[in-house]
Amino acid sequence: MSSFETIIYEVDGPLARITLNRPRVLNAYNIQMRDDLYEALTAVADDPQIRALLIAGAGDRAFCAGADLTEFGTAPSQVIARQVRWERDVWGILLSLPIPTIAALHGYVLGSGMEIALCCDLRIASEDAILGLPEASLGFIPAAGATQTLPRAAGLSQALHMLLTTQRIDAVQALETGLVIEVVPGKGLMKRCEAIAGDLLKSSPRALAFAKEAMARGLDLPLGEGLALEGRLAESLFGTSPT
Ligand code: COA
Repeated sequence: MSSFETIIYEVDGPLARITLNRPRVLNAYNIQMRDDLYEALTAVADDPQIRALLIAGAGDRAFCAGADLTEFGTAPSQVIARQVRWERDVWGILLSLPIPTIAALHGYVLGSGMEIALCCDLRIASEDAILGLPEASLGFIPAAGATQTLPRAAGLSQALHMLLTTQRIDAVQALETGLVIEVVPGKGLMKRCEAIAGDLLKSSPRALAFAKEAMARGLDLPLGEGLALEGRLAESLFGTSPT
């Protein structure tokens, strides 16, 4: 287990776990958390033994209540902010991981918290989860991918609804729109997520990586090119060992 200032990073055989760990402020995403996450995600990307990643939030009340409001307006300049975002592209690295990623969502899942979840492949919610993108009400738009990842995950209509009205939705509404794939009652969230991770670990990592690649790249291609991509990836799996 590696303890960073704002996250806990654990590797348990082929499963890596990242816990957002600022429960006193509902795991608000601050600059230190960005740096810590970047370091941990780089470690995940560099470790060929890790075959699945689970991201959760510490404490009872939130996965993450969004960007740390106390840091708003503290970036030294737009140029530096842009350069740092490029150098420590947390969202890019999370989206590009070839292993399956699971977000375990409980309590408040707001702003950047929702954007972290949207960069994961599978989102599982406990029944107390409340999801929302409050940025527009604060005079911003999401800047960690949600304008792109949310319509892809939940459809344009739901994305426009959440982004424009900034209305929060509960776990059942999130399930209905496909934003989460399962709602877990009571305190069973982590156990259920670990069981899902366990099932994923039974599959060929190469097949999972290729399936992710085919879908992620294919969504940006015309159908014919997407089918050709799928064909190439499928062909390169034939005759290879399943591990
Ligand atoms: N940034 C910094 N601190 C935050 C935070 C955030 N995004 N969200 C919550 N906190 C802090 C609160 O300031 C409070 O700290 P304190 O105990 O030192 O006063 C603590 O977390 C608990 O939050 P609190 O507001 O007292 O809980 P609540 O149950 O009354 O309300 C929320 C919960 C999530 C509705 C409310 O905290 C909130 O609206 N947070 C901001 C959400 C947001 O706009 N995020 C930015 C997205 S761009």
